[in-house]
Amino acid sequence: MKQFGSFVLDTANECLWIGSAQIALQPKPFAVLRYLVDNPGRLITHDELLDALWPETFVQPQVLRTYMLELRKILGDDAGQPRFIQTLPKRGYCFVAPVTEGSAQRGRSKPVPVPAVELPRLVGRDRELARLNAELPRVASGERSIVFLSGEAGIGKTALTDALARQADESMAVARGQCVPGLERELFYPVLEALSGLCASPHGEAACQALARLAPEWLVPLGRYGAAQGRGPVVGDPTLEAVGRELMPGNLCAALEELAAAGPLLLVLEDLQWADGATLNLVSALARRRAPAQLMVVVTFRPRSAAGELKQLRHDLLLKHACAELALTPLSKSAVLELLACELKQESLLPRLAAFIFRRSEGNPLFTIAILNHLIAQGLLVQRTAAAPWELAPDFDESTAGIPDELVQMVELEIERLTAEEQRLLEAGSLMSVAFPAWAVAAALAKESNETEEACEQLARKAHFVLQAGQDELPDGSLSAFYAFSHGIYREVLWQRQGAARRARGHIRIAERLGQLFAGREAHVAREMAMHYEAAGSWQRGAGALRAAAQYARERHAQAEAAELLERALRIADHHAEAQDEARALRQELGALQVLQAPAPGKTFKRERRRPESLTIS
Ligand SMILES: Nc1ncnc2c1ncn2[C@@H]1O[C@H](COP(=O)(O)OP(=O)(O)OP(=O)(O)O)[C@@H](O)[C@H]1O
Ligand SMILES: [Mg+2]
Repeated sequence: MKQFGSFVLDTANECLWIGSAQIALQPKPFAVLRYLVDNPGRLITHDELLDALWPETFVQPQVLRTYMLELRKILGDDAGQPRFIQTLPKRGYCFVAPVTEGSAQRGRSKPVPVPAVELPRLVGRDRELARLNAELPRVASGERSIVFLSGEAGIGKTALTDALARQADESMAVARGQCVPGLERELFYPVLEALSGLCASPHGEAACQALARLAPEWLVPLGRYGAAQGRGPVVGDPTLEAVGRELMPGNLCAALEELAAAGPLLLVLEDLQWADGATLNLVSALARRRAPAQLMVVVTFRPRSAAGELKQLRHDLLLKHACAELALTPLSKSAVLELLACELKQESLLPRLAAFIFRRSEGNPLFTIAILNHLIAQGLLVQRTAAAPWELAPDFDESTAGIPDELVQMVELEIERLTAEEQRLLEAGSLMSVAFPAWAVAAALAKESNETEEACEQLARKAHFVLQAGQDELPDGSLSAFYAFSHGIYREVLWQRQGAARRARGHIRIAERLGQLFAGREAHVAREMAMHYEAAGSWQRGAGALRAAAQYARERHAQAEAAELLERALRIADHHAEAQDEARALRQELGALQVLQAPAPGKTFKRERRRPESLTIS
């Protein structure tokens, strides 16, 4: 047994004791801790630790960071002021606490198992966390700091602010509140949530005193004095509205500043895209006031869902250098791998699995975790025994893996907030690829191009589904704006929610429109036309278009491409009676190319397994 601080490392039972309480540790974190405790007071390099714990296996060094984070959480250690594990940047770690031989508390009759602490991991955000941490010395010197943290749904805004709050030790008061969709009419909703959490925290006494002295009216809706039982005042409710009118933002600023004079205060207000105007005004006041305060305010929001008032506030404060902005972008591939490794508790991952999830999630951590859980729930990712590595099921097929239900529902909810006309526009766009031109939307909906383009433009400004992505020059020299779905999953949900017949109509209209736009040069776009005819199940026209595309390829001496197109057309002709007339001519052409290949036995043309991604317009 080794003792450090109030902990005893029990090497016989591979656990940790604190007093008479036993803390269960997973084998790897235990092994890491044991190695550190066995080698106190010296630098243990990353390589040394990796060699000792994973001999003969290549393991990403980032994995060590995950374990250190987990151990620090269990030990209640702080990376900024380590009592146990010190990080020596770019080199390794040092166990800084004195270690003695010890024994677990005597008189212990039966160990009390404490569940292993579930670790909230944060991967791939070192730079962003460092950026937020960099504000702290300024805050400690009395300079207030307001940070607008932006990013799309699930990108990790809450996870990052959680990590920041975790680092704030007991000397820093933390108040957190969150806006809720549908409660935009409830005045100061997130502020009251933050204050009520603060009042219940170890800093509660000081917070209540500051409020009682400088902003007593705020104690009423907090429920401290009973009246409104913690509810925010509601616009339209005369009694509660009266309470709301009495809440003086200036008084609250003064109370928070008094609190922040005694020690640093971190105020986190989340999801401001759903904030009421009064909350935004309070943020504005906190940012603009000049009195010294050890105050850090972090507000989070989804930029593409932000309404005018929030955009204006952000813009004004940025212009006056009264706030900073940190925009979260998708995780890198290596961070997604690390996240998957943490989730699966497995260091090395199948490259095919990692590549598939990264491609589908596009680096969004929420999507990454949802897709992973979906694969497990579908039995497509399996673990034979608890200790065995995770592996892909033999019938795993990327094209049929589907989208996790929770993501479909999340996207559906957002879609339903749009008007019926806007929904139709997006659905029409999904018939193309992740990017789509306005002319194709107009064609699919049989509408006029200019009018459709204006509607798309408005939609791109209003909803976060699509962004304007440039312009397409049409053969007649006119321009058509180009849009892109902000995530491939949005497009898939929109594609799937349309009935097959409506989709087919849209595809045929797009193919016909392509033919009109390129009249006289149809062969140039025959390949794209074929894709739309095939997607519509219009086999004869599909096979004909493929043949035209093959002829065009031959003219360009692209023989291999021509052969591939003819083979595809032949498969259609062989499997669909309506296209059989094409078969003879196709075989002759293939023969002429001397690359005639009969389809492999048993190889069937399964149109229903095709994913919409294959429908791309170059
Ligand atoms: N860097 C990260 N490392 C590990 N897990 C992460 C990371 N970022 C996010 N996650 C996980 O992904 C999920 C979504 O993250 P989070 O809730 O922080 O997103 P968000 O940006 O706050 O989304 P929303 O706009 O919906 O509030 C959570 O389960 C979170 O724990
Ligand atoms: Mg969040």
